Amino acid sequence: MEPTHPKGAPWRNFYGRRHGKTLRPAQQRYLDEDLERLSPGPVDWEANPDRDPLDLPGLFGARPLWLEIGFGGGEHLVHQASLNPDVGFIGCEPFINGVAMLLGKIREAGLDNLRIHPGDARDLFDVLPDRSVAKAFLLYPDPWPKKKHHRRRFVTPEHLEPLARVMAPGAELRIATDIPDYVRQSLIEVPKAGFRWTAEGPADWRVPWPDWHRTRYEAKAVREGRVPQYLTFVRA
Ligand SMILES: C[S@@+](CC[C@H](N)C(=O)[O-])C[C@H]1O[C@@H](n2cnc3c(N)ncnc32)[C@H](O)[C@@H]1O
Repeated sequence: MEPTHPKGAPWRNFYGRRHGKTLRPAQQRYLDEDLERLSPGPVDWEANPDRDPLDLPGLFGARPLWLEIGFGGGEHLVHQASLNPDVGFIGCEPFINGVAMLLGKIREAGLDNLRIHPGDARDLFDVLPDRSVAKAFLLYPDPWPKKKHHRRRFVTPEHLEPLARVMAPGAELRIATDIPDYVRQSLIEVPKAGFRWTAEGPADWRVPWPDWHRTRYEAKAVREGRVPQYLTFVRA
């Protein structure tokens, strides 16, 4: 059983960064004015120790739900939400500077089909109903290159098992990475959690998806000479 904090919600290690450089005044304003309204549940998850499930029809009506985990600056998420107005999106990102960047982009694009969980994906999985997610994106998850840190990677049972629970049968999981060892670990761990890798030939992992939008992390990886790989899985 997972350890619990005094109020009852699970306690979890998180090794990433939650804060970066000082926010610009406009970014602070987006957080103050927009985040609560755009959050799918309480912004302060300590305030929901019982992990009441999200009211998805209340958020998105009958629209299917797509999820982006660790959206960084939000460019791919905004692109997908603009392309797919008939889909409801939840993006999660614990790095508050990224959340502020996305809020600015949402204002600019005037989107109404996007909600933001400003925290760890595992907290979001706790409140998502089983089989509620029709597509999920995990784009350039933190590489944790040292071997002793591989267990911190997202493609571990601690993250993949609850992700598999909330995904609908037949739902697509897209993973992009520039780290060959991350590909290796994904191809072992993701199928163990109940997904099937759909690739039939090299083009399937070398060529991006037709509706792809390059992320900031990918642009940097390519500038530095690393090669993107695109893995598509389907929930069994
Ligand atoms: C290497 S960055 C890539 C960001 C973006 N997807 C891109 O491609 O530019 C990985 C992101 O995953 C986020 N992240 C790490 N652990 C996470 C978790 N448990 N839940 C949600 N996001 C997480 C980090 O905060 C970081 O922004």
